[in-house]
Amino acid sequence: MTSIPDILAMGPVMPVIVIDDSSKAVPLAQALIDGGIRTIEITLRTPAALESIRAVADACPDILIGAGTVTNEALATSARDAGARFLVSPGTTDAVIKGAADAGLPLLPGAASVSEIMRLMDAGFSAIKFFPAAAAGGPSFVKSLASPLAGLQVCPTGGISLDSARDWLSLPNVPCVGGSWIAPQTMISAGDFRTIIANARAAAALAD
Ligand code: 3PG
Repeated sequence: MTSIPDILAMGPVMPVIVIDDSSKAVPLAQALIDGGIRTIEITLRTPAALESIRAVADACPDILIGAGTVTNEALATSARDAGARFLVSPGTTDAVIKGAADAGLPLLPGAASVSEIMRLMDAGFSAIKFFPAAAAGGPSFVKSLASPLAGLQVCPTGGISLDSARDWLSLPNVPCVGGSWIAPQTMISAGDFRTIIANARAAAALAD
C-alpha cells in the first residue's frame, strides 16, 4: 500500500478527472502517462466513474489510481472493489474515515478550515486536501498554516490553473496540487488526447 505522503511526492500535479464515458478511460490514462503523470484521481461523480477506475486499474500499471469525491462509506468500498489504490474526499465525515479504514485504503481527507485540519491531525492524518482551495483562502491561507501546523502536507484543489499552480507549489507545505485543467470533462468527451498530453507535460514540468 502506497502512503498518502508517498503519493503526493509522485509529481507536482494530480489530475482530477470527471469522466462520462468509460471507454475513454484507458486512452485518457495513457495520455497522462505519456505526458509524465504518475497518479490520478477519478471522481465518483458520474455513472461511468467506477467502470473507468476498473478499466485503468486493469490496463495501466504505470499510473496509481485514486477515487475522488468519496462522500460516504459505501463509495469507499465500491472504489476499492473497482481497483482504486487510494481515496480522496472533498470534506471529511466520520463515515468517510470509517469507510476508508474498512476498505483498507489510504485516505486524503478534505478540509477547508484550521479546526477541521486539527481534528484530522488528531485522528492521525498528516496530509489533507484543501478544498475548495481558491475559494477557501488561496495560497496565503495555506502559507499561514506552515508555522502552527508544522509537519502537515497540503494538497490544494479547486480553482487551480497551470499559472496559479506555481504560487501554490512554491509553498513549503504543498508538495502537490490537484486540478481538472489538465483533462477537463469536455476534452475527455471530445477525445482530445493530444491536448491532454500537452497539458500533462506542462503540469509535470512544474517540478523542474
Ligand atoms: C475537485 O474535486 O478537487 C475539484 O472538482 C477540482 O477542481 P477544479 O475543477 O476547479 O480543478
